[in-house]
Amino acid sequence: MGESLADDSSEFLASGREWRALLLWGVGLFEAVNRHTSYLHDGRVRNFTEAIIWHDGEAKASRDRFLELSEQQRTELITF
Ligand code: HEM
Repeated sequence: MGESLADDSSEFLASGREWRALLLWGVGLFEAVNRHTSYLHDGRVRNFTEAIIWHDGEAKASRDRFLELSEQQRTELITF
């Protein structure tokens, strides 16, 4: 996920820049289940938009395509 999300702590075969890609299935219930909206491994962001913007490394292409969307398209993606 690039340098910005790296914690420089490797675990087995994963380097400190690598994270398990999360399944987004059910993420719409995140707030109801956890009673907070602090996303990513260290809870550094408050909403989906911020979480997507922090994507880098292998996920950079998806982040960049998200940034090219109109405001309405971003809203539709996040609602989905
Ligand atoms: C439209 C495409 C994508 C969307 C909307 C999206 C959205 C998200 C969201 C909302 C989170 C935070 C979830 C949480 O904290 O519970 C997340 C985390 C993550 N995503 Fe994505 N993602 C996308 C594409 C990708 C791609 C292509 C990759 C990898 C190649 C990826 C890898 C990850 C990883 C590793 C995390 C966890 C990072 C961490 O905890 O610091 N994502 N994503």
